[in-house]
Amino acid sequence: MQHDKILILDFGSQVTQLIARRIREAHVYCEVHPCDVSSDWVREFAADGHLKGIVLSGSHASVYEVDDKAPDAVYELGIPVLGICYGMQTMAQQLGGKVEGSHTREFGYAEVRARGHTALLKDIADFTTPEGHGMLKVWMSHGDKVTELPPGFKLMASTDSCPIAGMADEARRFYAVQFHPEVTHTVQGRALLDRFVLEICGTSPDWVMRDHIAEAVEKIREQVGDEEVILGLSGGVDSSVAAALIHRAIGEQLTCVFVDHGLLRLNEGDMVMEMFAGKLHAKVVRVDAAELFLGELAGVSDPEQKRKIIGRLFVDVFKAEAAKLTSSGASTKGAKWLAQGTIYPDVIESGGAKSKKAVTIKSHHNVGGLPEQLGLKLLEPLRDLFKDEVRELGVALGLPHDMVYRHPFPGPGLGVRILGEVKKDYADLLRRADAIFIEELRSTIEPHSGKSWYDLTSQAFTVFLPVKSVGVMGDGRTYDYVVALRAVQTSDFMTADWAELPYSLLKRVSSRIINEVRGINRVTYDVSSKPPATIEWE
Ligand code: XMP
Repeated sequence: MQHDKILILDFGSQVTQLIARRIREAHVYCEVHPCDVSSDWVREFAADGHLKGIVLSGSHASVYEVDDKAPDAVYELGIPVLGICYGMQTMAQQLGGKVEGSHTREFGYAEVRARGHTALLKDIADFTTPEGHGMLKVWMSHGDKVTELPPGFKLMASTDSCPIAGMADEARRFYAVQFHPEVTHTVQGRALLDRFVLEICGTSPDWVMRDHIAEAVEKIREQVGDEEVILGLSGGVDSSVAAALIHRAIGEQLTCVFVDHGLLRLNEGDMVMEMFAGKLHAKVVRVDAAELFLGELAGVSDPEQKRKIIGRLFVDVFKAEAAKLTSSGASTKGAKWLAQGTIYPDVIESGGAKSKKAVTIKSHHNVGGLPEQLGLKLLEPLRDLFKDEVRELGVALGLPHDMVYRHPFPGPGLGVRILGEVKKDYADLLRRADAIFIEELRSTIEPHSGKSWYDLTSQAFTVFLPVKSVGVMGDGRTYDYVVALRAVQTSDFMTADWAELPYSLLKRVSSRIINEVRGINRVTYDVSSKPPATIEWE
């Protein structure tokens, strides 16, 4: 099935991905590509007749610092175009208007007056002034501004400091706004983007995860044929959903390899096995490598060195298992494919890095170069999907809600949550303390939102501090270990606030850990935000 699609050209703004997410939330398929694609590329992209509109993103740069322009084809295809911030400025400049630099940046909240009764803003307003002007509450971030409309354009929005804050050429269906509709601070942003993609571009909202399963299954079958696939299952959301989807498509042709490095959360290994081998009846090879990992980690306390050791061993163990599965024998033809849970933000980030547009956020979990080393073809069935969509797909595939909506867990696992040298005893204590913390977060409901504190935090965990402190229990003195609780709220994990958990919850967690986990006699709460602290302690 062919979907209508929207093309987003990325000029390097930090929030370009949000444009794509908002459009996907309207159930319209869209793709993000660097702004320096050629006109021929754009025409080719439109050649199937399903390209219904183009969005030009913002940029962190000024039109005077960089000469990034949209390829001419953007304005020649006869389809609607929406310019946002820098996207508006480049549209103005390319179509014969004027843009002027400014020494001052306008940054933050603004109230914009809608003008010109355009199709884009018709009946969309946050409030009306006594004079009857429709007003929008928006988020602005720009230095340069358009000072002269290009021929054919009319004024669509203005503020006192930015007289041309929006412009439109309704005959050609070109629209542009100086503010950012993709961020939630722009109250009507969602309505504006919905209006653009659904009504002005006339797309059909057919990008629905429930329906996507059939399509994805078909595509996997076509790609793989009767060949075999191996997949490294980590218990994380992406690899779990990829496994469930591929299993739905090709059943027994998939073998999952689950490397248990002994640094997983309490009962995690068993839960993964129960779900995939037990409920889904997938072929899963569980490699119990705890001794190997803990052996190599003995005596090592430097965080970076620990990470390197865990990463290297993980690859070694996985490769050894994969080698068994890829060699053909009496009962098997040998796997030809390696499946990975790469998701769309990883694809955009590595694409952006090539054209130096987006700032790379963090290297993702998938092991680069592994398919080549193993001589395998790469299967990435989630590479078109955002995290929210992967989760929706997981639920639609029958994975438990708790598994799919889990907080992220780092690849090195408890290895970076036990400060300094990693020991099995420490890991055992930490697992039990952490399980209590997570259990209490899940069961404590915040009354205003009706959500659990687990759902209200982005990531929460316990950290083991290998220091002993004095305590008193019953009549006796104790001299035991300390743990720190960490809970943060963040939208992108680049910055994070420590969560203001209720004292009553902290009190319960602390008392349960000290009473139930012999060996820990002190619990602290980490009240550091990122930056300057990081989320993990190592
Ligand atoms: P920091 O500690 O840098 O963490 O604020 C940001 C996010 O990244 C996760 N994280 C990792 N994930 N391998 C991973 O797969 C790693 O080595 C790693 N280190 C940090 C961390 O859990 C948080 O979500």
